[in-house]
Amino acid sequence: MMGYRIFLAGASGAIGSRLTPLLHSAGHYVCGSTRSEAKAGVLRSLGADPVVVDVFAATALSRAVAAARPDVVIHQLTDLPKNLEPRLMAQAIPRNARIRSEGTRNLVRAAIAAGARRLIAQSIGWAYAPGPEPHAESDPLDADAEGDRGITLRGVIALEELTLQSPPLAGIVLRYGQLYGPGTHSAQPSNLSPVHVDAAAHAAVLAITRGGPGAYNIAQPNQHIATEKARRELGWNADFRIAEENA
Ligand SMILES: NC(=O)c1ccc[n+]([C@@H]2O[C@H](COP(=O)([O-])OP(=O)(O)OC[C@H]3O[C@@H](n4cnc5c(N)ncnc54)[C@H](OP(=O)(O)O)[C@@H]3O)[C@@H](O)[C@H]2O)c1
Repeated sequence: MMGYRIFLAGASGAIGSRLTPLLHSAGHYVCGSTRSEAKAGVLRSLGADPVVVDVFAATALSRAVAAARPDVVIHQLTDLPKNLEPRLMAQAIPRNARIRSEGTRNLVRAAIAAGARRLIAQSIGWAYAPGPEPHAESDPLDADAEGDRGITLRGVIALEELTLQSPPLAGIVLRYGQLYGPGTHSAQPSNLSPVHVDAAAHAAVLAITRGGPGAYNIAQPNQHIATEKARRELGWNADFRIAEENA
């Protein structure tokens, strides 16, 4: 397979740090971002060409994305406390929503200006409006939610609209369930709609070449969200794991 040029925003995160070696070993060129000079060496050791940039610094971001000349931009940015520590979550919710709205807007502009063709973005699988389960991707999102959930939902809706409605980019939204596994807050699957971080990363690899524009639920078989679409259109399998000697 011909390798693609990938700009991976959030290469140092829970998903990003599993995704980077997968992309590298699949033969892709990966330019991976972090805000921290100190993490550049780690990203290099995972197989990325590191770039230190904040998604809110729009001009610097555009410059970094343009320099990578990406075919595909992958957005794995979140801003959550390690271990989702409850004490820190109240402040994290608006920060995370800002990454999704303003951060995604900056990334979309940078991707289009750089001539990228596809944008793959991380969303969540628990943003559906109340209704019969399991939710298919065509079910409405919970746009009327209030309080903290309302803040999160406005961020999610902005991220998804920007990803799916920014021609000429082909947008793919990956609605991940609750992550578990290395580098996440949990070693064990949740009892909602869990997804192992390796399988989550693999969905982003598959979405580079497979799947039409749109949203995909990414989780183990569960009763809350339907996952047939990802299996059918991306060829995704929830059992995917990175062999430890490669991790
Ligand atoms: N679906 C889910 O269940 C789900 C999804 C995501 C995260 N989580 C949980 O959240 C916790 C933290 O996860 P994490 O380490 O991936 O999240 P994180 O620390 O919030 O970081 C994610 C990525 O976003 C980057 N980032 C954050 N703000 C940025 C900004 N302003 N500009 C540019 N890059 C920015 C980080 O880069 P830096 O190197 O600059 O920090 C990192 O690469 C874990 O417990 C994880 O399991 C759960």
